[in-house]
Amino acid sequence: MPACGSQGPGVPAIPDSADVSAHRKLEDVRIETVAVIGAGTMGAGIAQVCAAAGFRTHLHDAPDVLERALERIRRTLDGGVQRGKVTPEQRDAALARLDASPDFAGTVREADLVIEAVPEDLTLKAELFGCLASAAPDHAVLATNTSSLSVAQIAAATGQPSRVVGLHFFNPAHVMRLVEVVRGPETGDATLSAALDFVRSLGKEPIVVSDSPGFASSRMGIVLGLEAMRMVEQGVATAQDIDKAMELGYNHPMGPLRLTDHVGLDVRLDIADYLHATLGGDQYRAPDVLRRMVADGKLGRKTGQGFYAWDTDTSG
Ligand SMILES: NC(=O)c1ccc[n+]([C@@H]2O[C@H](COP(=O)([O-])OP(=O)(O)OC[C@H]3O[C@@H](n4cnc5c(N)ncnc54)[C@H](O)[C@@H]3O)[C@@H](O)[C@H]2O)c1
Repeated sequence: MPACGSQGPGVPAIPDSADVSAHRKLEDVRIETVAVIGAGTMGAGIAQVCAAAGFRTHLHDAPDVLERALERIRRTLDGGVQRGKVTPEQRDAALARLDASPDFAGTVREADLVIEAVPEDLTLKAELFGCLASAAPDHAVLATNTSSLSVAQIAAATGQPSRVVGLHFFNPAHVMRLVEVVRGPETGDATLSAALDFVRSLGKEPIVVSDSPGFASSRMGIVLGLEAMRMVEQGVATAQDIDKAMELGYNHPMGPLRLTDHVGLDVRLDIADYLHATLGGDQYRAPDVLRRMVADGKLGRKTGQGFYAWDTDTSG
């Protein structure tokens, strides 16, 4: 599937940068408008966080995905109102700042920051960043939400690697406070500084990590998750009891298998394969049970079945 298009994923790109506000320099940029590419688990959550924090937010994906994403964002904000975390006015203002479109060029045309959240596939992301380099304004910061891939390789596709940075949000994006800011070897100082200011303006805590496979979080998290799967395979204990061991015995807020269901088994498999290919080491080798479940479409919460059964109405 081509990485970008004027009408949505799968349609060839028609870059339209002629009327872009292209003459500001990155140093002068105040981020006011954010474009989020990909409206799956992470893209929808990131768009919600940006809109709630006061940014004009444009979300891009295929029409049916956008419909589901907007529904999920509405439901999450409604839940926040019911729990007293969000006022009805804040919910309405966030929704008013958010729009969704299958038109790629239109989505990024006025963006000061683009956050990419398409699947964990280097070729797909590189292709998309190639499109962004011409379709987004020259001043815009280009960020990837990759969990593990090389920011340098993604950035190389733009021909302007100083504009590119990793912004690794965690799931669910509206709850988790950490954002890993990944500095590629050619990420510019102005880009890094804009990224850090942006993360703080979302009320989140940034850490700066160098561009090493899996960064500071996925590299450790994936080892725990894969080992838990191997233990299920070997009949050491049930998924529930392995999770309980880490929750009650080690005070983890969520066990590694339940977390895998939230993240998506396909996403975890992509990360494991990439870390195994780049870092080596048996600890990153994906167990058969993970490959089998992904092949069977048991991707976790988003499909209703993973190591646990989920009510798909509440997914996300
Ligand atoms: N799931 C997690 O917990 C998690 C956490 C942190 C980071 N990430 C990273 O975030 C990224 C997205 O993961 P996800 O879990 O949201 O995946 P997902 O499969 O839920 O969503 C990906 C979305 O991208 C869309 N897409 C594919 N190609 C596209 C294109 N060319 N243009 C526009 N949209 C396109 C798909 O339609 C889909 O809706 C990955 O890099 C992943 O590693 C995931």
